[in-house]
Amino acid sequence: MTLKGKRILLGLTGGIAAFKAAQLVRSLAKAGCDVRVVMTEAACRFITPVTMQALSGQRVYTDLWDPSLPDNMAHIELSRDRDLIVVAPASADFMAKAARGLADDLLSTLVLARRCGLLLAPAMNVEMWQNPATRRNVKRLRDDGVVLAGPASGDQACGETGMGRMLEAEQIVAEVEAFFQPRLLTGMHVLVTAGPTVEPIDPVRAITNASSGKMGYAVARAAREAGASVTLVSGPTALEVPVGVKRIGVRTAQEMFDAVKRSVDGADIFISVAAVADYRVASASAQKIKKAGRKGMTLELTENPDILAYVAGLKKPPFCVGFAAESENLAAHAMEKRSSKRIPLLAANLAQEALGADDNALTLFDDAGEHKLGRGPKLDQARKLVAHISAMLGKKGKAGRAQA
Ligand code: C5P
Repeated sequence: MTLKGKRILLGLTGGIAAFKAAQLVRSLAKAGCDVRVVMTEAACRFITPVTMQALSGQRVYTDLWDPSLPDNMAHIELSRDRDLIVVAPASADFMAKAARGLADDLLSTLVLARRCGLLLAPAMNVEMWQNPATRRNVKRLRDDGVVLAGPASGDQACGETGMGRMLEAEQIVAEVEAFFQPRLLTGMHVLVTAGPTVEPIDPVRAITNASSGKMGYAVARAAREAGASVTLVSGPTALEVPVGVKRIGVRTAQEMFDAVKRSVDGADIFISVAAVADYRVASASAQKIKKAGRKGMTLELTENPDILAYVAGLKKPPFCVGFAAESENLAAHAMEKRSSKRIPLLAANLAQEALGADDNALTLFDDAGEHKLGRGPKLDQARKLVAHISAMLGKKGKAGRAQA
């Protein structure tokens, strides 16, 4: 687990989203973080320090003038051994303060005195988020190397709808994990396909496969963590879109092909994880096919476009990575596939082990031969794949995100 042993200072400012911080502190602690909580006066109006104390298993700090701290220098002591300060919720007021370097309470003082990174999870009304003053503050914070996690768009506690909703606790945990990943693909555009395709037989029936999309979504997340801008063309899945990833939903192989053709311009890397149906029904029925007296039936299939081969065959193709799910003879099939599709890198796995599972054991095939990634969660496998791609592209990454 990437967060094990990480020392986090979690700051809460005043906002109704403070209730999500209870889940956040719990999840961070469960992931193995050492979490110290600091709350502003306004945060204490929304959720009590007792709740945060019980969930973090640590004393909660609220006061800049706490005489029980050594030398009464809480703003130094509390931030010195931390790997990251996370402020969630980060109110518009707090962001304004942090952007200007004000330090008039414990949390803002700690933020100003920090040596570690700062990640803010904004939470505010849509008008506040869109206000030019907040826009200015967001830009200034980003310029200073502060990481913003969210906000998301949706229903707000005030009854309005729009940008400003704080991310959910698990999404913030994912953003904290991302913070600690090496930035191996900064500035690159990565196009990923994921999931199954669904090829209609008639309006209610279809040919599909058992791909869950988990591997492709993990690859999209890992690429984005590495600093890339990521477009994910996805067949139908029940998965949540990783934060910061642009998803284009499709159903059929033809739709996936069209979406890839529209998105491939400017892509530096194309990672084709989708389990694309090789064939579709030649002429899908417009009406539901009736059983009526049939003893059997034959469906005529026609070949789908090979999306990966098309992209690899472009005049100036992006760096192409294929996936192969085989049921036997993994290495032989994988090597044959890599050369027939003329791609520099192919990731192979056994279909019976990989499809729908949370773990995987990828083997990578490139010009240098075979590289086994070992068995592990799909996100770990995806991160290793990203590291391999980056090494092949000769890009050197910087450990962690830019720190303020
Ligand atoms: O030939 P096969 O389907 O086994 O190749 C698998 C690789 O090719 C995967 O990367 C898959 O995403 C891609 N593919 C594709 N379009 C197809 C079939 C497969 O992009 N029609």
